[in-house]
Amino acid sequence: MCGIVGYTGKRAAMPVLISGLKKLEYRGYDSAGIAVTSDDGILIRKQSGKVAGLAEIVEQEDGMLAEAHTGIAHTRWATHGPPTTLNAHPHEGNEGRVVLVHNGIIENHNDLRNRFKAQGHTFKSDTDSEVLAHLVESHYQGDLLEAVTAALKEVEGTYGITCMAKDEPGVLVVARSGSPIVIGLGDDETIVASDASAIITYTRQAIYLDDNDIARIEGSKVDIRSLDKGAVSRTPSEIDWSPGAAEKGGYEHYMLKEIFEQPEAISNTIRGRIDLNRGTAILSGLNLSPRELVAIQRLLIVGCGTSMNAGLIGEYAVEDFAAIPAEVEQAAEFRYRNPIVGSRDMVLAISQSGETADTLAAVREAVEKGSLVAALVNVVGSTIARETSRGIYLHAGPEISVASTKAFTSQVSTLLMIALKFARAHRLSREQGIKIAKEIERIPELVEAVLKTNDQISEVAAHYAHYNNAFFIGRGYMYPVALEGALKLKEISYIHAEGYHAAELKHGPIALLEESMPVIALLNEGPGQEKTLSNVAECKARSAPVLGVITEGDEEARAACDHVIEIPSCPQYSSVVPAAVALQLLSYHIARIRGCAIDQPRNLAKSVTVE
Ligand code: F6R
Repeated sequence: MCGIVGYTGKRAAMPVLISGLKKLEYRGYDSAGIAVTSDDGILIRKQSGKVAGLAEIVEQEDGMLAEAHTGIAHTRWATHGPPTTLNAHPHEGNEGRVVLVHNGIIENHNDLRNRFKAQGHTFKSDTDSEVLAHLVESHYQGDLLEAVTAALKEVEGTYGITCMAKDEPGVLVVARSGSPIVIGLGDDETIVASDASAIITYTRQAIYLDDNDIARIEGSKVDIRSLDKGAVSRTPSEIDWSPGAAEKGGYEHYMLKEIFEQPEAISNTIRGRIDLNRGTAILSGLNLSPRELVAIQRLLIVGCGTSMNAGLIGEYAVEDFAAIPAEVEQAAEFRYRNPIVGSRDMVLAISQSGETADTLAAVREAVEKGSLVAALVNVVGSTIARETSRGIYLHAGPEISVASTKAFTSQVSTLLMIALKFARAHRLSREQGIKIAKEIERIPELVEAVLKTNDQISEVAAHYAHYNNAFFIGRGYMYPVALEGALKLKEISYIHAEGYHAAELKHGPIALLEESMPVIALLNEGPGQEKTLSNVAECKARSAPVLGVITEGDEEARAACDHVIEIPSCPQYSSVVPAAVALQLLSYHIARIRGCAIDQPRNLAKSVTVE
């Protein structure tokens, strides 16, 4: 949450910072700010609203702002204090000698604020981050690294920070605890950011700071220490995203681009991981032999939002293929309810960003309980990826749109592979394994087929864009797809949408059905289809408009609905992916017709690093 960029080096800092902020805006977009240092001191500009507003102001300025070679910038998702210009970062110390940008939450900010107020400090904002700036400055005696080190020892909470001092132009000090900082290593320059997408235009060589790391950076010189251990060495790694991967590439929105990238993203996810000969999946990152796999008697899947919905599909697949119990738990619930995790259980954490606070805390809780823990993560080098010794990277490429699309379908494809791997160790025959493996390999082609119907889906969307409410219903594997369809619609179009098990409709929600309450029914072939068709008849009998997601050529299902979206024929376990893609396009077009800010839905931020 919130985006940080910092630059020191040979170029003018401001364009690098603004372009970095634009790349990071998906992390938060309620206000933005920039500060530069030079021999003339510190200059700060900030503005409520989106990065474009800030860019408009600063790009017209010349003088120090245009010429400085060192600077920091921030795009905010408000936690403490409303999204006003005063609350925007960067924040200064009491005397304006130190300036910083901060992600995370300083939990003891009230105590610190009261202490400084008693000393006569005045605060300009309501933020915990400004308190941190005062704290750093109170320790400053000419060495920013020492001041930040001393300050952080007094802090409770989480932070990813980048600081500058008036008396050390050209120097950045960065530190992390619970909120990511990546240091991009260039020629005679260094770019720091809260995630790699702001860096890849300049360099692919990056160091991911660990918790408690603090670094002093000047030009291309980077000295890293640990708050408690002194100097440490961190090996740079290569960011394998192409610079274009984080651009819109001609699409109107990142979300649409990412929807269309899915055949490639899923191909990248499954490439080299399917063994057709043995009818299994090769998931070496799990680091589990068949013998160890057999010993696992229960899978506990944790995640939040869309990642949790993917987990629900994983639960169905693991029980269906491998006949071992699987359960999904919302990560925050898992961490706080003292879960029972046995020695024969494996906890699988799912997170696109690898930074979601609740999922990370669930991972830590599971590790604490001595469980086998693995993670399914997209962002390489993210905290969850680094804290779990077993894991599978999705390789879906950067997901910039706040609404998750390609990460979801890559997660689901991976979960099918995990289920297959478990199943082969537990009970599935080679022949059955080969059959499932072939179906998993077909998923990119199934998605291609749905993408070709984009124009038809756009036409259907026009019939549903004016409603204020909607139900999504499904059974079996299609139930989590209904949940995900509803989540996608509400987050980007602001239509109130609920996902229900089709059988559950009669137990209350049916009371809401009338002609202004459309039902989107997952009616594709497979177990339960007949029953959902009956539920659709019940909806129609109550005048609810029905849009069905049906299997191509299924005339009976078509006749039951007012409108349909067709997906190719395939087993229900793999149909979840094309069905989800169809619903992504439906939500996208509805939101577009309603004129919504699709890539930056109100109140949301990608990567929820606070509880
Ligand atoms: C919805 C969405 C969120 C995320 C959730 C978890 O489209 O993107 O619900 O799925 O915030 O994020 P990750 O997967 O990064 O842990």
